[in-house]
Amino acid sequence: MTKYHQITVNNRQTGEKITTTVPEDNYILHSLEKQGHQLPFSCRNGACTSCAVRVLSGDIDQPEAIGLSPELKARGYALLCVSYAHSDMEVATQDEDEVYELQFGRFFARGKVRFGLPLDEE
Ligand code: FES
Repeated sequence: MTKYHQITVNNRQTGEKITTTVPEDNYILHSLEKQGHQLPFSCRNGACTSCAVRVLSGDIDQPEAIGLSPELKARGYALLCVSYAHSDMEVATQDEDEVYELQFGRFFARGKVRFGLPLDEE
């Protein structure tokens, strides 16, 4: 039997605060969209970081979030398009390009990227 968890999403772009329940066995972004909520996304594949949020509280599982470095996961960021809620939780959408800048800005600015993307770098 599917468990449901309450989620609150603070959409910092629109000022909207969404509080609802989502099943723990479906991607959070997909569940919210099925309920009529619109949130940022692009690839829907865990790669682009458009759907990134900061987890303010709760337990999130994102085994397929290949576009997010271990460091940013440890700092509490998550990709809603490939994340599951494992408890009641609260998240906030990122500032525009916040995660991209944190993850790649310093590398591109310094010309360090030569092969691929530095996702696994410490
Ligand atoms: S929409 Fe691209 S990582 Fe979620």
